Amino acid sequence: MKKRGIALLLALVLMLRILPVQAQAASALAAITFDDGPSKYTSGLLDELDKRDVKVTFFMQGCNAEKYPSVVKRAYEAGHQIASHTYNHPQLTKLSDKEIQNQLSTTDSILNNAIGTNNSYMLRPPYGSTNERVLPAIGRPAIIWSVDTLDWKSRNADAVYQHIVNDTKDGSIVLLHDLYATSVSGALRGIDTLLSQGYELVTVEELLRRRGSDAVSGKKYFSASGKTTLPGISQPAITPAETEDGYLVSLSADEGTAIYYTTDGTAPTSQSTLYTGPFRLEGGADVKAFAAYTLNGGRSRVSEATLELPRAEKPVITLTEDTAVMTSGGEIYYTLDGTVPTAAAARYSGPVPVTAGTFIQAIAVQPGCRDSQASSLLYSGLGNIFSDIRPTNWYYHAVDSVVFQGLMTAANQTFSPEGTVRRRDLVTVLYRQAGQPEPLDTYIFSDVTGSDSAYAAIMWAAEQNILSGFEDGTIRPDAAVTREQLAVILYRMRPEPPEVDPAALYSFEDWESIQDYARDAVAWTVSQGILSGVSDTLLSPDSTVTRAQLASIVLRCQAF
Ligand code: NI
Repeated sequence: MKKRGIALLLALVLMLRILPVQAQAASALAAITFDDGPSKYTSGLLDELDKRDVKVTFFMQGCNAEKYPSVVKRAYEAGHQIASHTYNHPQLTKLSDKEIQNQLSTTDSILNNAIGTNNSYMLRPPYGSTNERVLPAIGRPAIIWSVDTLDWKSRNADAVYQHIVNDTKDGSIVLLHDLYATSVSGALRGIDTLLSQGYELVTVEELLRRRGSDAVSGKKYFSASGKTTLPGISQPAITPAETEDGYLVSLSADEGTAIYYTTDGTAPTSQSTLYTGPFRLEGGADVKAFAAYTLNGGRSRVSEATLELPRAEKPVITLTEDTAVMTSGGEIYYTLDGTVPTAAAARYSGPVPVTAGTFIQAIAVQPGCRDSQASSLLYSGLGNIFSDIRPTNWYYHAVDSVVFQGLMTAANQTFSPEGTVRRRDLVTVLYRQAGQPEPLDTYIFSDVTGSDSAYAAIMWAAEQNILSGFEDGTIRPDAAVTREQLAVILYRMRPEPPEVDPAALYSFEDWESIQDYARDAVAWTVSQGILSGVSDTLLSPDSTVTRAQLASIVLRCQAF
């Protein structure tokens, strides 16, 4: 006996430990309901429910719905369940069948008018009061409640909150009234707590559906606890198939649901298009859709798919004898004044005359495609042609000048301003600037042969002591040049060792990171204005030199 008693006690302890966890499981469902409204507080409540993406049920009095038709419509559009609480709150047991019909049909038509469609509305009998005569007479499910927050009595948000949090269980139908500010604020706090405990808050119709109930007319429902929990309504699947000029879009969702969708990026509502079969979209679109068994019930979360069209290919711009010729698979629109071309720009119909300094930009426009990205061609002030330089680039004039002088080149009209400068690139520029004297061929490096395009420049640079080889016999022509290395090379090129003022470095936070051998050189180039900081406070001595930086440094050196 004693042993069995202990075993029983142990089982009880285990159950107690397990039960609260079950109540907090993700499958816990509850329906929050608001009676007697709408009122001046209902709009604010809807705002807050939207933020939480929580759907509730409003049991409205016809006489109040009449005063706030736009609130009724808004609540419906947002996916809340609209239900009836009679026209003006009589105790139905005291009315004749005919008077009951009158209360219900009047309220139904007020709600239908506000919403704009005919719906069926569940009923909450005032005071929860029914009898065997009333129930068949109302001809619809009678929704009572299992949690009474007594909010109308306490008019105290804390008390409302405590009732919700302490009394709600899986399957509860919670009674509140949106007639009082205290009910609204207490309800919202309660909703937040229930959500944090893993509750899924749904409309009454959805609660009954999820619990496998058919919501029978004339039957009373206090709650919907139970073992059955059907899954929530699946989000629709959006399946686009590409066509020649856009997409053919199919939507699918749970059997028995209707799907409502938009294609303009707006949130779908019950007023949105009802899906009846695959639809065509010309061009791209933002498709959003939800599924619902009935519009005045629960609905799925919104699915979204952004359908983009391929971009048209960029036009090709070529310059011939001061005229620009453009080709593309579609229409071409262009500008010459630096503004971004759109389909409102000049349409290309034949060669366009251009003068030095013209910046041409063009896009291609093709049906079934997004407009292409812009191609651009700069016919520079010095007559160079660049596809990747704009007049607004800080290095434009330096690049234009060094290319004009033949010191740097723009292969295929492409200068690559952000490209890295290698040792071979740097000495080639310096060698050209020196007039390309014949080298003496006194050096041999293991990694440069006579067939190398930079061979003469590298030999010359080594002989001039501009570039040094390494102990392993290499000169590493493909190594990137750092900013401090560039400074050292420029410094070495001066005929006499110039005077150095190390103070020029002290305004840069990272001056101590300059390697010792390079410090005089960097100080000199900075003090001469040849090298400037990458910002007001940073010199970044070990970052590599870009082609745009080299062009502007070469130009500054020429000013000596
Ligand atoms: Ni009431």
